[in-house]
Amino acid sequence: MVKKISVNTIRKYKNNGEKFSVLTAYDYSTAKYIDEAGIDIILIGDSLAMTALGYENTNAVSVEEMEIFTRAVSRGTQHAMVITDMPFMSYHKREAEAVENCGRMIKAGANGVKIEGASDYIIKVIKHITEVGIPVMGHIGFTPQFLNAIGGYNIQGKTYETTLELLEQAKKLEQAGVFSIVLEMLPEESAQYITGRLNVPTISCGAGRYCDAQVLVCDDLFGKFSDFKPKFARKYGDMKSLILKCAKQYNDDVKSGKFPLEEEVFKLGEDEVKRLNAHEGENTNSLH
Ligand code: KIV
Repeated sequence: MVKKISVNTIRKYKNNGEKFSVLTAYDYSTAKYIDEAGIDIILIGDSLAMTALGYENTNAVSVEEMEIFTRAVSRGTQHAMVITDMPFMSYHKREAEAVENCGRMIKAGANGVKIEGASDYIIKVIKHITEVGIPVMGHIGFTPQFLNAIGGYNIQGKTYETTLELLEQAKKLEQAGVFSIVLEMLPEESAQYITGRLNVPTISCGAGRYCDAQVLVCDDLFGKFSDFKPKFARKYGDMKSLILKCAKQYNDDVKSGKFPLEEEVFKLGEDEVKRLNAHEGENTNSLH
C-alpha cells in the first residue's frame, strides 16, 4: 500500500523542519514517473497554458481544460498530493461559483486547489472553499494571473515595506485556512522573513533557499520548454534535445526504409502467404 501525502503530512513536515518538494505535471505518464520519484505534491499548474497548450500566458486557460489535465494527472498519481491551480476568472466572480469550480477539480481527482492573491475578496472566497473541506494552497508575491496589473515579470517584496505587506497577506491567508503558501519571485531574505513568521509552510517559486519547500515547472526542470527560462528554473535534463534527436532519427529512418525492421512487424504464416500469392497469379507483386 502506497502512503498518500495529505495536509497532515505537510503539517508534520513544517513542524519537524523537513523540506518537501513540489513539481508540476500535466499528463498521466509524467505524473506517474514524478510520483514514483517521490515528489510530495504534484501541481497541475496553470503554467500548462503555455507549456502544454501554447497560449501566451496563463489567463487563457479554462476550468474545463484544467479539469481534463487534473483527471489525467490524478490517474497517474498514487503517493503525491495532487493540487490543481484554479484558472483566471474561475474564483473571481461569485463565491458560490468559486466553490463549485473548486469542487469540479476535486471530483476530477485533485486533493486540493491553488488560488492566487490575498485581497479581502480572495480571502473571503478561500474561507468558503476551506469551509467545505477543500484544502487550499495560497500564492502571493508574483502572481501570474495578475500579470496585466503587475505590468511584467517583476520581483516582488524588494523593500522593507513590501516585505511587511506580503507578510500581512500571508498571515491573512493562514487565518483563512490555507495549508501552504507559494511565494513567487521574492528576494530570499524577504521569503525567509515571511517563512519564519508563519505556521503553514511556504513553497518557494524563485524565492530562495529558506522556504519550507520548492516548486518548479516540470517542463523547465526536464529542459523541454524553451520559449523562456526564469533565473530560478534549474534545468536537470535536456528533453528538448532528446525529442529533437529521436524525431529526426525517426524521420530519417522512415524515409530511408530503416524503420520498421522485421522484428517490428506482424507476419502472416507461410501458408497464408502462399495462398495469397497463388490467388493473385504469377505476374503481380508477390509477397515476401
Ligand atoms: O502554474 C504554475 O506552474 C505555478 C507554479 C510553478 C507555482 O503556479
